[in-house]
Amino acid sequence: MYKCMNFMSWFLFIHLLVTLCSYGCRGREISEVISEVAVEEGHHHNHMDPSVMVFFTLKDLRVGKRMAIHFPKRDPAKSPKFWPKEEADSVPFSSNQLPHLLKLFSFSPHSSQATAMENTLRECESKPIKGEVKFCATSLESMLEFTQSILGVTSELQAFSTLHQTTSSVTFQNYTIQETIMEIPAPKMVACHTMPYPYAVFYCHSQESANRVYRVSLVGENGDRVEAMAVCHLDTSQWVPTHVSFQVLRITPGTSPVCHFFPADHLIWVPKPQAHGSSSI
Ligand SMILES: *[C@@H]1O[C@H](CO)[C@@H](O)[C@H](O)[C@H]1NC(C)=O
Repeated sequence: MYKCMNFMSWFLFIHLLVTLCSYGCRGREISEVISEVAVEEGHHHNHMDPSVMVFFTLKDLRVGKRMAIHFPKRDPAKSPKFWPKEEADSVPFSSNQLPHLLKLFSFSPHSSQATAMENTLRECESKPIKGEVKFCATSLESMLEFTQSILGVTSELQAFSTLHQTTSSVTFQNYTIQETIMEIPAPKMVACHTMPYPYAVFYCHSQESANRVYRVSLVGENGDRVEAMAVCHLDTSQWVPTHVSFQVLRITPGTSPVCHFFPADHLIWVPKPQAHGSSSI
C-alpha cells in the first residue's frame, strides 16, 4: 500500500482528495481515479489507494475494533486562509473564468496548482444527487449562511471536527477504537470539506436521508491519539453501485449503512440541542 503512494503522481493525489471531498455522493469520479492509478501502476492494480481507507460499517463501530485508517496530514501553517467575504465575492469562482484566475494567482496553465483549481471549480459546479443540497463556500460568512439555511435560522449551531495532533509523519496505519464512542444528536447535518484552492474553500453538503454522527477515540499502532468524527449514512440505496465505499467494504447499495471518518480540517455542523427544563414555571 505504501508503495502505491510512492508511484502515484501528485496530480492524482490532489485529484483524489478533491473527489474524496464528496464521497457522500460522487463515487464515480473516485472509481475513475482508482482505475487511473491502477493503469499507471500496471500489475499493482489490485491495490487500493490508502486515501480511500476511511470507510467502515456500523458493526465495526465497537470498542476494541482495529482497522486501517488514512488520516491525511495537514500543516495548518500552509493551509489556505479564509478571505473576507467582500474580497472573496469580488473574485469570480467559475471554471469558465479559469484563465483569468490563473493569471490573478500567477499559476501557469499546466501547473499542478492550475489542475487543482480546475478540479475544485468543476466539483463545485457539479449537480447534487437526488435529495442532496450542496454549496461551495468561499468565505466563513457564506459557509455560515448556507449552514443556517439548512439547519434553521433559529437554531444555535455546533461544529465538530476531527482532532489529530501528532508529530509523526504516519498517515496510514491500524487504529483501535477506545472506550468512548459518543453519538452526537444530528436531526439535520451539514458536512463541509476543505478543497484545494489558493484561499479557503469549503464544499458543504447536506442529504435528506438519515445520518448518524459519532465522535470516536482512536489510538494508532504508533501511539497517536485521534478524536475522530465519523458520519454513518443509513440509506445508501441511491448511491451509484460503483461508489468506492462499496468496493472498500465489499457490499452493494442499500444493504448496509456506510460510515466514514473525517479528516482533521473538515467540519460537521449540527443544530445545538435545546436545553430542556431550564425555564422555570
Ligand atoms: C494492519 O494490521 C494487519 C494485520 O495485523 C496488517 O496485515 C496490515 O498490514 C496493517 N495495516 C497497516 C496499514 O499497517
